[in-house]
Amino acid sequence: MDQYKGPTNKFLEISRLKKELEEANDKILEMSKQIQELKDANQANEHLVESISLQVSKQLTKSTESTVKQIESYMAVKDYLSDGSIGLNFHGWPISSEIGLFLLSLIHENQYDCIIEFGSGTSTLMFAQALLNKSAGVALALENSAGSVINDGAEVSAIAEYSPSEHDVPKRIVSFEHHKKYLEETTKLLRRQNVEGIVDLVHAPLVSTTIDGEEHLYYDCAKKIEAIASAFKAGTARFLVLVDGPPQQTGENARSPALHFLLQHLSTHKIDILIDDYKRPAEKRMAERWQTMLDSRALSHSGEEVVSEKGGFLLRVNQ
Ligand SMILES: C[S@@+](CC[C@H](N)C(=O)[O-])C[C@H]1O[C@@H](n2cnc3c(N)ncnc32)[C@H](O)[C@@H]1O
Repeated sequence: MDQYKGPTNKFLEISRLKKELEEANDKILEMSKQIQELKDANQANEHLVESISLQVSKQLTKSTESTVKQIESYMAVKDYLSDGSIGLNFHGWPISSEIGLFLLSLIHENQYDCIIEFGSGTSTLMFAQALLNKSAGVALALENSAGSVINDGAEVSAIAEYSPSEHDVPKRIVSFEHHKKYLEETTKLLRRQNVEGIVDLVHAPLVSTTIDGEEHLYYDCAKKIEAIASAFKAGTARFLVLVDGPPQQTGENARSPALHFLLQHLSTHKIDILIDDYKRPAEKRMAERWQTMLDSRALSHSGEEVVSEKGGFLLRVNQ
């Protein structure tokens, strides 16, 4: 028989259980506090690891860039001492050297009648030197991005020195530049290498332009492109076009009007258009829109991505 537990015993039992419950509760609280502390420590470690790996990667990029610049400077000094040519700068705003090499291989393989570029600088000088080399019969040994060598067998020699009186080379490069400061810089660059004679460096301020109901600030280039078209009206000409301006901050879809102006006057010709900075979403959208635009005009075209630091896309029209 159970012994009768009076109210005092029951009360003591309840108090004991309550105390145990409170102690268990305290333990749970203490444990959750420790769990939280562990979690915080873990998170702090993750942040630390993240920030260390970011610092390491920045440092690595910096030292790689510095090594690349030292090698380039060394080569530039050697070139200057051997043939007086000044090395090209491919860092920052100019086209990357991979795009430069790709453009050179295009010039090497194709007989372009005219090169048009939107946005002057290193590329302008590179185009001028490449055309002069070609017109002087200087063979190029180019290593393309896939690593294969394009070489027509002849010896690679120093860049031909250009003298307008000795060479019958028309102004086959037309470069649009909106900014006076960079117009002057490109002029100096061309003069320094004595190649300004084959470049028509056009000061084309950005003017308000409406295309298909969309407002743009774009190079004042219509008259010049019309003049180019009339110079090539006799047959089908081959054009190489570099789209590398105006800068992105001048407006949304800043570079988009280029195709409109090209098609307005040159739509019967063969045009290779290299879009620089294709890694940017705006340039990707622009390339898609351009292809749709070409479809709607029933103009044949093909596209090819050019793998490089900032990305590139080659759009070939009427080929
Ligand atoms: C991407 S850049 C053109 C680069 C050119 N195709 C080359 O290879 O050097 C486009 C435009 O940006 C402007 N620009 C060039 N260098 C600049 C700089 N350091 N800061 C701001 N704008 C610059 C010039 O007006 C130039 O035409």
